[in-house]
Amino acid sequence: MGDHTAPLRAPAGTHDVLWPESARWERLVAEFARRARLAGFGLVLNPMFEDAQLFRRGIGDESDVVRKEMYEFTDRGGRDVALRPEGTASVVRAFVQHHPPVPWKAWYLTPAFRYERPQAGRYKQHHQLGVEVLGTDDPDVDVEVVTLAADLYGWLGLRQVDLALNSMGCGECRSVYVAALVTYLEDHASELCDEHRDRFRVNPLRVLDCKRPECRAVTEHAPRITDYLDEACAAHLDRVRAGLEELGVAYRLEPRLVRGLDYYTRTTFEFAATSLSSAQNAIGGGGRYDGLAEAIGGSSSPGIGFGIGIERLLLACDAEGVFALDPPLPDAFVVDVTDGTAARALCGELRRAGLGAVRAYDGRSLKSQLKQADRSGARYALIVGAEELATQIVTARPLRHEGPQEAVPRASVVDWLAQRSTAQTKEGQ
Ligand code: HAM
Repeated sequence: MGDHTAPLRAPAGTHDVLWPESARWERLVAEFARRARLAGFGLVLNPMFEDAQLFRRGIGDESDVVRKEMYEFTDRGGRDVALRPEGTASVVRAFVQHHPPVPWKAWYLTPAFRYERPQAGRYKQHHQLGVEVLGTDDPDVDVEVVTLAADLYGWLGLRQVDLALNSMGCGECRSVYVAALVTYLEDHASELCDEHRDRFRVNPLRVLDCKRPECRAVTEHAPRITDYLDEACAAHLDRVRAGLEELGVAYRLEPRLVRGLDYYTRTTFEFAATSLSSAQNAIGGGGRYDGLAEAIGGSSSPGIGFGIGIERLLLACDAEGVFALDPPLPDAFVVDVTDGTAARALCGELRRAGLGAVRAYDGRSLKSQLKQADRSGARYALIVGAEELATQIVTARPLRHEGPQEAVPRASVVDWLAQRSTAQTKEGQ
């Protein structure tokens, strides 16, 4: 039954994000939302769980994500449901269900659940920022999507980012390629890792994604998908490359890049932070999935998107020493040594005027309140004692810069502080 008195902890592989670390999340999400909006994307919200069939049919029964990692359960009504292991399948399901006008450009922030062995940068619940574009296979959209992610990394200040680009071809050129790959792998079956020696016929593309040295050695000389693209797929890739080059987005063509989800067609890409250890260094990835809408029961509709893992992205920022944010500090700490009523009113007024105001509670002593004021990082302590109350003033004491203490009339203290507020510079940071 376990120990009923031991304090409960978050499940292994999950984590709490507390203040002030969460200030980085806020800033990152706000900047992502701003950039997505500029590129014509709107926010989409989807359920955290779906009919498990959605992921089976969408992501693929043979993918690791579905086969080994899905949080799947039968609910109290006997339905087979799964927590979303990623964002794309749900967004495409919503597109199929609601028929919004195309091109439909959606961005999202979502937790994603995968039953993986927890380690640094690999969690059972992680969070993704992502976009999806549905209803067009124009390669210029691929360029937009890749550039949106690349520019975000640039804005964060990351320099050690490697962008690998590939094309998985369409159904037709891929089946010719897969046949050639299987023939090649059959000749080298005995050299493959234990898992793939038996399974390579079920999903030969997975072997290209295998990180084990045995498989790496074999696939080094395997046939390359880029040599098998038909005319239309080759032209698509050429235009994506030209667009990235025009916009100065550096990339490396990587014909072995297949990614872990089975819905991809044509353009695929992955951003790796070379400052992180290679097993968990993917800080974002995505690609086209021109057959996904149909696979989940909709009419045929091409699509492309990406997902960026927030935790890993922040680990990469730490590794490069960038995006170390100072959380925004309050403008004032209201110190009230009467009975708290003055602090209650003044904090209310300041906040309504758009100023950051905090205070102490529980009738603390002057000394204790001043200590809290110092710790809060506020710009000013606004002090109200019996004397201030009687003379209708507030004593304003600068906490973060040298300067005299001032007696400010109570009636004008909000304006007085607004003039000295750092709110505007903070917004622009
Ligand atoms: P994904 O590559 O499976 O793609 O995941 C996207 C990103 O999520 C990864 O690059 C990584 O940063 C992060 N990530 C994945 N698994 C974990 C984990 N266990 N712990 C921490 N971070 C993780 C997708 O999910 C696709 N839906 C992306 C996409 C959107 N493709 C098209 N549209």
